[in-house]
Formats: sequence, structure tokens, C-alpha cells
Amino acid sequence: MISAKIKEKLASGSAIRKMFEEGNRLKKIYGEDKVFDFSIGNPDLEPPKEVADALRELADNPTPGMHGYMSNSGYESTRAAIAEQRAAQSGLTIDAGAVCMTVGAACAMNDVLHSLLDDGDEVIVLAPFFMEYINYIENHNGKVIIVQTDDKFMPDFDAISKAITPRTKAVIINSPNNPSGVVYSSEQLTKLNELLKAQDHVIQVISDEPYIDLVYDGLTVPPVLKYIDNVVICFSWSKSLSLPGERIGYTLVSPNNADYEDLTGAIVLSNRILGSVNAPAIWQKVVEKSLNAKVDVANYEHRRNLLYSNIVDAGFEAVKPNGALYIFMKTPDGLSDTEFQDICAKYNLLLVPGASFKRTGYMRLAFCVSENTIKNSREAFAKIAEELRIKK
Ligand SMILES: Cc1ncc(COP(=O)(O)O)c(C=O)c1O
Repeated sequence: MISAKIKEKLASGSAIRKMFEEGNRLKKIYGEDKVFDFSIGNPDLEPPKEVADALRELADNPTPGMHGYMSNSGYESTRAAIAEQRAAQSGLTIDAGAVCMTVGAACAMNDVLHSLLDDGDEVIVLAPFFMEYINYIENHNGKVIIVQTDDKFMPDFDAISKAITPRTKAVIINSPNNPSGVVYSSEQLTKLNELLKAQDHVIQVISDEPYIDLVYDGLTVPPVLKYIDNVVICFSWSKSLSLPGERIGYTLVSPNNADYEDLTGAIVLSNRILGSVNAPAIWQKVVEKSLNAKVDVANYEHRRNLLYSNIVDAGFEAVKPNGALYIFMKTPDGLSDTEFQDICAKYNLLLVPGASFKRTGYMRLAFCVSENTIKNSREAFAKIAEELRIKK
């Protein structure tokens, strides 16, 4: 007999997965080029050349024990290289001991939450957000506290302040954001730091950063370590190097963190006892050798521009995303998200309702789909706007 908790989660399923399956069904009926499936954010660029070079070099020059058990935090040389990179970006002095190599960002977040939460402790998440956060928090018996962001998807500091209680252990931030694509400014990070440090107990910021290298318009993401003291970074190469199937990432505790000693130790222990033991050995070596490489970000930016034009040229509204792989467009006035979703589906246009990110009134479209799909969908956007009499 499986647990009641899991039974409930199985029953609720994933709306995004269901859309993905619907997309495949429609493609079989109408053909690949007639279905515009923007429902799933699967990074579709190939990894940069540095990754294959590093793999080849490792295969050709094996060292004894390179497939063996290691420290639960990962290889010292990989962690030192990451610490050095983050130190250069933030101006802080960072030791390799701040870093724990993990099985992607998902595992990184589970390690951190496992380290922080006693039963019933609260974690604030800023909506719209990546819905797996709910599972990650509940995995460790935490309580999810949802706080809405403002109409530009930026933190609402009054609302965060009101949500804080003596049980608040952490706030999760995700910039560049899935699903809105917004990037927080250094001023916003500073304000968040001030708000949290004014509380009478330590509240950790968990900075989920899988999209940190996917930024457009010449922007750079302000280094969170420079502006927030009690922060733990959760990073992965799923998007930066297009390696989501390889499951490689890390946690990094700020040297300014009030709980630095306890947290660094707790995260390594959690990494071990939650079952990953250590991150994949070969991939630790590969990312160390590819630390300054990234996927062709200009390619994503080009597709963002095309899809954004399709949306706004047809007369719909959206905040132009500065990063990540998504556009979070506004559902036209007078329609619920599911009503709008049904109208879009008539034109073989698939998008995900905002409820899947705990923010209704919006739909998420992933632009990591083929350029042709985006180009061919332009007419569908125009026809939907015509049907709804959207004014340009
Ligand atoms: C916001 C966000 N956080 C975390 C993850 C999980 O990333 P990973 O593949 O590194 O576990 C994703 C994956 O899409 C994501 O969108």
C-alpha cells in the first residue's frame, strides 16, 4: 500500500505533462508542422564543443579511481574551481568548502530544504513559480507559503513582510524566473536582504539559479552573493550547458551566511542520506573543464524575439522576458485561462495556464521549440486575436 501523501500527488498529476502528451497526439493527427506546442521547457540546443572535448579527454586519459566513491561533497578541484568563479563574480572570498556538488538543481534544493526544515517550518515562494518547489518543500515536511509578486512579477516586499512568521525558515527566489523570465535587479536583492535581516531570526534565501546564464539584451544577472548575506545558491548545468539528462549541479553557501558552518555540513550530509551520495564523477570533471563555456544564448534570444513579436503584434500583452526560456503572456480580459487555452487549442496552439505556476490570468509559452514552429504559429496568434476581437 503506497502512502496517502504520494497517492494524492499521483492523482493530481502534472498539467504540463498532460499538455505535452496532448501535443504528441495532435502532431500524429495534423503533422509536426501544424501543431504549435509551447508547453514544455526542454532545453533543445546541443551542449557546446567544450563538453565533448572534455568527455573525450577523460575517456582517453583515465586516472586510477576516477569512477570510484569520493567525498559526499564532490571533487575538491571541481568545488575549488566553482568557488573561484563565484568569488570573481561577487568580490567575496569563497572556499571550496562552501560548495557541494549535486544531482542537478532539483537535488540541490532538496539537500538545502532537508538541511533547514523541521516539521511545519514555513518556506515562502514568490508566485509565479516552478511548481516542483511545492514537492521539494513537502518532501521535508515543510509548509509552502505562497506570496504573489507585483504586476511585473517583481517581489512585493510588503506582501513578503506580512507573510513572515516565527516559523519562516526560507524564501526561495528564482531569477531569471521560470515562468516569467524576469531578472531581479541589485536594488531588489538589497531590499530583500534588508527586509530579512531586520527579522529577529535568521531567514535563508534559497537562490535557484538554473537560468543564470540564459539572459538577453546584453544583461548580466546581479550576483546574489554580493547583495544577500544569508543565501544558499542552487545551480545546475541543465540549461547553461544543455545537460538536463546528466543531472549535475551544486549548492554554494555564502561565506557571509550566519549559519555557514552548520549549513555546509548539513547539506553534505543531506546529499548523502537522501540517496544521491555524490554527484556523477565524470560530469563533475566535465563541468570543471567547461566552466566558462555555455550554450549559444543568442539562438535562444532570437527565438524569444520571434515568439514575443507573434504575441504582441497580434495584440496580446506580455512582459518581455530578459532571461530563461519562457514568455508569460496575459490572458485576454473576460476569459479564464482554461477558456483561453481551449480557444488556442482549436488553432493547435498549446500553452500552459498560469494555475500551473500559481498565478492565474496568464499563460506560459516556452520558446525552446524549433524556429519553424515559432514562425508557423504567427498566423494562429493572429487568427485567435481576430476571433477574440483583440485590438492592436
Ligand atoms: C526554476 C527551476 N528550478 C529547478 C529546475 C530543476 O533543474 P535541474 O534539471 O537542474 O534539476 C528547473 C527545471 O526546469 C527549473 O525550471
